[in-house]
Amino acid sequence: MTETGSFADRVKQQADIVRVIGEYVHLKKSGQNFTGLCPFHQEKTPSFSVHPVKQMYYCFGCHEGGDVFKFVMSIEKCEFPEAVRTVAEKCGIPTPRPRERSPQERAENQQRAALVEMHVQAAAFFARQLADATEGKVAGAYLEDRGLDRAAIARFSLGFAPSSGDALLRHLKAKYPEKLLEISGLFSRDPGGRFYDRFRRRIMFPIANETGRIIAFGGRAMGDDQPKYLNSPETLIYSKSNVLYHLDRAKEALRQSDFAVLVEGYMDAIAVARAGIANVVASCGTSLAEPQIKLLGRFTRRMVVNFDPDAAGQMATERSLTLLLEKEFDVRVLVLPGGADPDKFLREQGSETYRKLLAEAPPYLDYLLARARQMDRSTATAKLAAINFVMPYLQRVPNRLLRSEWATRMASELRIDEPVLREALRRAAAERRSEVKPQPELLRPPIRPAERRLIQMLVEAEGFRERLAQEMVAGALYRGLETERIFETLVTRVRERPDAAELAAALEERDRRMLFEVLFEPYAEATWEEAESCLGVLRSRSLEQELAELQKKIEAKAPPAELTRLLARRLELQKMLARG
Ligand code: UTP
Ligand code: MN
Repeated sequence: MTETGSFADRVKQQADIVRVIGEYVHLKKSGQNFTGLCPFHQEKTPSFSVHPVKQMYYCFGCHEGGDVFKFVMSIEKCEFPEAVRTVAEKCGIPTPRPRERSPQERAENQQRAALVEMHVQAAAFFARQLADATEGKVAGAYLEDRGLDRAAIARFSLGFAPSSGDALLRHLKAKYPEKLLEISGLFSRDPGGRFYDRFRRRIMFPIANETGRIIAFGGRAMGDDQPKYLNSPETLIYSKSNVLYHLDRAKEALRQSDFAVLVEGYMDAIAVARAGIANVVASCGTSLAEPQIKLLGRFTRRMVVNFDPDAAGQMATERSLTLLLEKEFDVRVLVLPGGADPDKFLREQGSETYRKLLAEAPPYLDYLLARARQMDRSTATAKLAAINFVMPYLQRVPNRLLRSEWATRMASELRIDEPVLREALRRAAAERRSEVKPQPELLRPPIRPAERRLIQMLVEAEGFRERLAQEMVAGALYRGLETERIFETLVTRVRERPDAAELAAALEERDRRMLFEVLFEPYAEATWEEAESCLGVLRSRSLEQELAELQKKIEAKAPPAELTRLLARRLELQKMLARG
């Protein structure tokens, strides 16, 4: 987000979003808003709205929304700084010329250059330590044990951070000022304020940016030390979500093969690359971030996701899928048999077997159907949950025939009545209009009026916003709601003047849409009495939930002593609910 008092902030304050967007879209006043035909998808009736007071826009058809900068970025396909300049120009705000960098910017550029150089030196230092006779021997043996020989170590510039605690510090401290060591991410401070090496007794994986400059490290513990991997923190030169491990070495292969293999870890990427599949990158954590997808999209839009076949890997796969499909990637999913990650699988089964499985990796819908088949489908509700799991993805298949074929398969494999499924799909398609975007909210219960109203109040009710937030937090009133994340974001920021675009940036796609939709509804002044009554709705809901759980326990034939307690509590809850 922008810093207070920055140029971008000033531009945003002075710019009139209606005027800026008006240059691209024919807008008409409609109530407190302006509406027009959405420039981001094909439509015949206007669903694109601009809110002059909140200075934001939102399309109820394709769900594109944000502030004035976001609009310019989307429509001009440019980055943030350029959007700021464009808006400034349109509004007659003088822009600082790019040549005239501020002294602070110049200083930052110098620091960046020095940090990159420091990382080169650190990598060389770690590499030498690995070759060192004493401690390095143990590290070398560890790597050998994991199947990495000298050639592999050299190829991936692996190294070793010794256990002494100040080896790197002693090596670098004469060359760089303390301030620079401090912000390098390579050192930490003890409670007494003294520096020490952040990485100790770890195998070091240099992390390079797209151009091959080392900008961070991942450090693998040799034993069971925690954490297993310690990574560089975010620094002036390293932003985790903007970097893919091994991309610098994969670029050519990505372009040539026109597909990427996406794995989770450093060791996986190295193993796959060593098997002769150079077009591999690692997300280095679990799920993929949007900037990483954008980066990858410059080389290829086809990929095989090959995460670890455990619960975390599954979640990461599904979360990444949503984002990838939204960016219209062609995605296949490879789940390796035997619960092995790519590194382990390659060592045990060899590269031929891996290549074969890779070539046969099924389209993502096959993967999702297989997952849905494993879900509980014994009750109607459970079955609905399984359908809802696949539906948003199915709906994204752009080709009608293909979609229909998939629907038939889904109906038969999940044992769902086919007409019922088709009807749900048709309804979804009708809402989808021409733009193909995932609609995870399909079949989701609509948010209740009380929740909508509370969201509005948390943003708009100047008189009691903070008090309302306190009540909600104290009673844990939004826990388990569809709107939980929205409330969480709102209550933690209730002290600031809420900025719609900033709030939206803190939310995931689905919640972001919900928030925009609520904020675009006209706000009628609220009283504390009304707030109380909305809180009452949430309170009864949480009582009802407790009652339902209690009922289950009672029916599960609890032991007599326990049963007495449960029955007493049930009576209490019923009374409370009856009182309202
Ligand atoms: P894994 O736990 O699957 O590690 O995490 P791995 O790659 O299989 O490593 P080995 O084979 O046990 O050595 C996958 C990736 O998640 C990140 C790392 O990037 C890792 O490669 N990770 C994992 C961390 O950043 N920190 C951790 O503590 C664990
Ligand atoms: Mn793994």
